Amino acid sequence: MSRKRTAVLISGRGSNMGALISAALVPSYPAEIALVISNRPDAKGLERAQEFSIPTAVVDHKDFQGDREAFEKAIDEVLHEHKIELVALAGFMRILTPYLVNAWSGRMINIHPALLPSFKGLATHERALEEGVKLHGATVHFVSAEMDDGPIIMQGAVPVLDQDTPDALAARVLDVEHRLYPRALELVATGKAKVSGARVLTGGEDQTSSNLIWP
Ligand code: GRF
Repeated sequence: MSRKRTAVLISGRGSNMGALISAALVPSYPAEIALVISNRPDAKGLERAQEFSIPTAVVDHKDFQGDREAFEKAIDEVLHEHKIELVALAGFMRILTPYLVNAWSGRMINIHPALLPSFKGLATHERALEEGVKLHGATVHFVSAEMDDGPIIMQGAVPVLDQDTPDALAARVLDVEHRLYPRALELVATGKAKVSGARVLTGGEDQTSSNLIWP
């Protein structure tokens, strides 16, 4: 089995990146984390990747003075230099233009800390509490030109408790993110996640356990 060469794009602490790295330490896992790119030179996740001897690169958006396409071209070049086949965004805090999204269509995935299509954007946990939802969670989806949009591969749900603060809820969601993202990348790397119109179908006999983690 050839493992898919996967790049993880980060901007910060990289805990989801860490979960993907850990999963990929298992030789039978269908993806290897072959590169970590950060748009911030001080991202904590870079040190973590280096501890695992994973090649890292910094493509600092500030060097491109607002020219988003030039920034994305630089990222694309690094991805090609490292013969990357799949890209996993993990807390990558730049909105991508159609340039990079189209170049990696069907091969770029993202994790978002909410049950999409609810709560796109930032401050998802605060908004979930304000709205009084009883179920919250995280979503892994293929990246499309719209922010936090694109066919949903997997979702992980957590309960919202009366006493929750945004931080407490974030911690519960982060825990499910770390279980969710490796499984979703596995579905993509093995080709089991098939895009059908706006949906991703994963097939298999036990679909609820292949594309869903619930409380
Ligand atoms: C996660 O909550 C992820 O869902 C969101 O940004 C956060 C990144 O956290 N997109 P980390 O850097 O993976 O720890």
